Amino acid sequence: MARQHVDHRDIADFAQVKVNLPKDKADEYRAQARRLREKLEGYLAEHPDFTLKKMMLAGSLAKGTALRSLNDIDVACYISGANAPGDVPRLLDYLAERLRKAFPNFSPDQVKPNTYSVTVSFRGSGLDVDVVPILYNGDPDWYGNLVSQDDGTFLETCIPRHLEFIRKRKQAHETHFAQVARLVKFWARNLKRERDGFRFKSFMIELILAHLADLGLDFSDYPEALQHFFTYVARSNMREQILFDDYYEASAVRTFTETVRIIDPVNAKNNVSRLYTPAEADAIVEAALDSGDAIDAALAAPTKQGTVYYWQKVFGSTFQV
Ligand SMILES: Nc1ncnc2c1ncn2[C@@H]1O[C@H](COP(=O)(O)OP(=O)(O)OP(=O)(O)O)[C@@H](O)[C@H]1O
Ligand SMILES: [Mg+2]
Repeated sequence: MARQHVDHRDIADFAQVKVNLPKDKADEYRAQARRLREKLEGYLAEHPDFTLKKMMLAGSLAKGTALRSLNDIDVACYISGANAPGDVPRLLDYLAERLRKAFPNFSPDQVKPNTYSVTVSFRGSGLDVDVVPILYNGDPDWYGNLVSQDDGTFLETCIPRHLEFIRKRKQAHETHFAQVARLVKFWARNLKRERDGFRFKSFMIELILAHLADLGLDFSDYPEALQHFFTYVARSNMREQILFDDYYEASAVRTFTETVRIIDPVNAKNNVSRLYTPAEADAIVEAALDSGDAIDAALAAPTKQGTVYYWQKVFGSTFQV
């Protein structure tokens, strides 16, 4: 590969400046989530029958894959008890009412039910915390029914195991797994802005990368790792089933009929990508083909200007070296 104009190092530097959430910000937001969690723990210690059992940082801040553009803090909240409503709008009202009880120093209007979550807003500094309900029946591994942020259905899953699953891949590919995940998420985010209706869920991106990591892909060279990702997406046509045997036998996975089949690593019955239509899958494949071609062209371009032009086709006009 011709790399005199844009090399691995340049992509890594671009990521530091434009893609990644800076560490001091990540620490600040994690501390914000921790304070909420501890407040609930304090309340629970005095009211052991309270039905909100635990709050847990989830999503990209917990996994270390957050982008600079992060705009809320995802926190999962475990709700137990036969009295918790089973329909989502009423569950959200219930959750908001309980949160107001546990956090009396928040004014009621700082705790607001949304479509599929409850937003806790902080006065002054910090980001909003998005509290996502999980119906919980006391499972010792913290499995529960998570309200899907995509369509409000209940998904049986396990947040702590998701975190452990990603942590394992991060440990196997230190620095690089998380960095490549953030670069691909940045690529997808740019496409979402440019193309109407384009969707590619962060968790799906991470699971595809975990699949490539498990196949032995080396993530330490970013142009190459990105190229591998795009090649995999194009070759599989987003129609190859992806599954993991960390928490269940591969034979436990039944046949799924949806177009895209990326199976939840912690629940063999949950297809994380079940909502993707053939047209949406095709749009992802198309974009991966374009970006793969652009990287090839970038690596072959004779001038720096030409090289940057092609990398901008991958990451958008904010790409500069
Ligand atoms: N379909 C699903 N099935 C099971 N768990 C899911 C599903 N979708 C999301 N989750 C859980 O929610 C977490 C956050 O999801 P998602 O990947 O969409 O956002 P994120 O990692 O916070 O990324 P970002 O907010 O930066 O786009 C996942 O890590 C996973 O634990
Ligand atoms: Mg998130």
